[in-house]
This record gives sequence, structure tokens and C-alpha cells, in this order.
Amino acid sequence: MKKYLFIFMLTYFFVSSPMNAAIYKGHKVFTRVCVKCHTSGQFFVAKKTIYNWKKLMKKKGQGLKKIHLKEKKAKKSWKYFRSKKYTKKTKHLKDFLVEYAKDSGNVPACN
Ligand code: HEC
Repeated sequence: MKKYLFIFMLTYFFVSSPMNAAIYKGHKVFTRVCVKCHTSGQFFVAKKTIYNWKKLMKKKGQGLKKIHLKEKKAKKSWKYFRSKKYTKKTKHLKDFLVEYAKDSGNVPACN
């Protein structure tokens, strides 16, 4: 009986695992684009709360885009933030950022 319970819990753990497709895609964007400048990847994401990230990523990431466009130091990212590549992926990126926000209780399992 105990064995079944164990298997059941194991299955439950995998099924409810937060690494779903959108988060995975968001993670890819993050490591490809953002980590270039924001090196401490996972700590960087965990600096903000779910609420902060949601606000920044509202309306296809307008907030995040603005922060970078007015920052001269972020000039290298302007092309990206202005491109369709960015607006197309903001949903995934948001899912990823929110998933690993400070108050989400999740720790990224990425490497
Ligand atoms: C070309 C370099 C560069 C890239 C690429 C870049 N950023 Fe930034 N980012 C900056 C700079 C410079 C600032 C402003 C200075 C600061 O606060 O560190 C900034 C500021 C920010 C801020 C606000 C600062 C804070 O701590 O509140 C957030 C949030 C942020 N970036 C997230 C991202 C995300 C998410 C991506 C990927 C889509 C990204 N950045 C890509 C350079 C970059």
C-alpha cells in the first residue's frame, strides 16, 4: 500500500511540475537575451515580486521596453526591444519571470 502511495505522489509531482512549455520558452528568451547584461540570471528574476513583473510585462512588455529605451547603457538592447521578436515572446517571458519571482516560492531548475 505504501508503495502505491509513493508512486502516486511521484506521478503527481511530475504532472504538476511548473516547467511547462511557456515557462521553458520564456527561460530560453531570458538566457539568450537578458543574461547578456543582467548576468546573475536567477537572482535577477528573484529580485522582483510577481506584482512587479506583471506590471512591467503588461501590454506586451511596454514597461520593460521603456526602462531600456531610456537607458543609454542598455543601447545594445534597443534593437531587440523594438523588434517583433520581443513583442511576440513577451507572454512566455512574463510566464517565466512571474514563475520565479521573489514571492513565487519557486527556484529555477535551469542550468
Ligand atoms: C544591452 C543590455 C541589456 C539587455 C539585453 C537587457 N537589459 Fe535590462 N537593463 C539594462 C540596463 C543598462 C538597465 C538599467 C540599469 C539598471 O537598473 O541595471 C536595465 C534595467 C532593467 C530592469 C529594471 C532594473 C531594476 O532592477 O528594476 C529590468 C527589470 C530589466 N532590465 C529586465 C530585463 C529583461 C527581462 C531583459 C530581457 C528581455 C533585459 N533586461 C535585457 C541592460 C540590458
